Amino acid sequence: MTTRIIGTGHYAPEHVVTNDDLAQFLDTSDAWIRERTGIHMRHIDIGEGTTAMAAKASIRAIENAGISPEAIDLIIAATSTADEVLPNTASMVQKEIGNSHCACYDLNAACSGFVYGLNTAHAFIKSGMADTVLVVGSETMSKIVDWNDRSTCILFGDGAGAVVAARDEEGIESVVMGSDGRSGDIIACDARTMENKWGARPVKNPFMIMNGQEVFKFAVRKVPEAIHELLDQAGMKADQIDHYILHQANERIIASVAKRLGVPMERFPVNLFEYGNTSAASVPILLDEMNRRQLLKRGDKVVMAGFGAGLTWGATLLTW
Ligand code: UT7
Repeated sequence: MTTRIIGTGHYAPEHVVTNDDLAQFLDTSDAWIRERTGIHMRHIDIGEGTTAMAAKASIRAIENAGISPEAIDLIIAATSTADEVLPNTASMVQKEIGNSHCACYDLNAACSGFVYGLNTAHAFIKSGMADTVLVVGSETMSKIVDWNDRSTCILFGDGAGAVVAARDEEGIESVVMGSDGRSGDIIACDARTMENKWGARPVKNPFMIMNGQEVFKFAVRKVPEAIHELLDQAGMKADQIDHYILHQANERIIASVAKRLGVPMERFPVNLFEYGNTSAASVPILLDEMNRRQLLKRGDKVVMAGFGAGLTWGATLLTW
């Protein structure tokens, strides 16, 4: 027995900010952003927030799975931009979808968050602790980036993606997860509250800071490594995979991973031109778009992979 994805959904805010819009207040240009990243625009939240987006994506995934919300026995919300410290995002999603009993918790592994969540759901299902798990990645990156820092803010967008994962005979074949906290300062953002009645921890990074070049180097080295580990576990070769659904951070990173794996770029779907980097939401948004366009056929081999702050990485290989 393993874990199959039986439903997908996504949601992105209606408000769109183009590269030209950014060039109105930043020293940048549409040409630079397109050439260096592949991004043309991003959806930006103007007041809904991470929980509401997560709930909308989740409702779509549950409808797509054709199950009752009450059938879900665990909700994992992957986010690093929760609306509230308490209660957790997953419990608020639970309320919105109409489930009143299941376990709920949030997981923060930055841009690897959705893959971490899916792999965790698989562990629960394999151990017999859960049968049906909702995994949702939702992010309001627009509230943690510094809109005066052209080297980071141009990359990010907001949105949510969700899957329903359930016990089945075919599905997840191998998983990889890891982190190297020694490089934690390459992407960082402090929590908003840093003081109590007796003292304060100095706030170093009130908004996200990122060493783009170091993240780039990490991604093009670590993602192929993780995928090779994943393929070895399953006894498969890179060219046997039909779809590589990678975290959508930069088109040049995706192209470099494709080259290193020796797999044509056509097997690496890309939608970052519309969404930018939506962190934990990027993989499930792309997965849902492919599912709804009927680009995923039963039996197809799919690899998903994420990387980000931590520095974390995670990958999953499954049969659709
Ligand atoms: O989920 C993980 C999240 N993070 C990532 O995936 C980030 C990975 N890294 C990247 O995507 C790229 O490193 C960036 C897109 C962030 C930057 O691209 P780059 O090709 O590495 O550019 P760079 O940092 O080497 O900067 C080249 C030049 C610099 O100017 P000088 O020093 O050569 O005069 C920058 O100041 O481009 C300048 N620059 C910009 N120019 C116009 C940086 N950002 C911009 C901008 N518009 N938005």
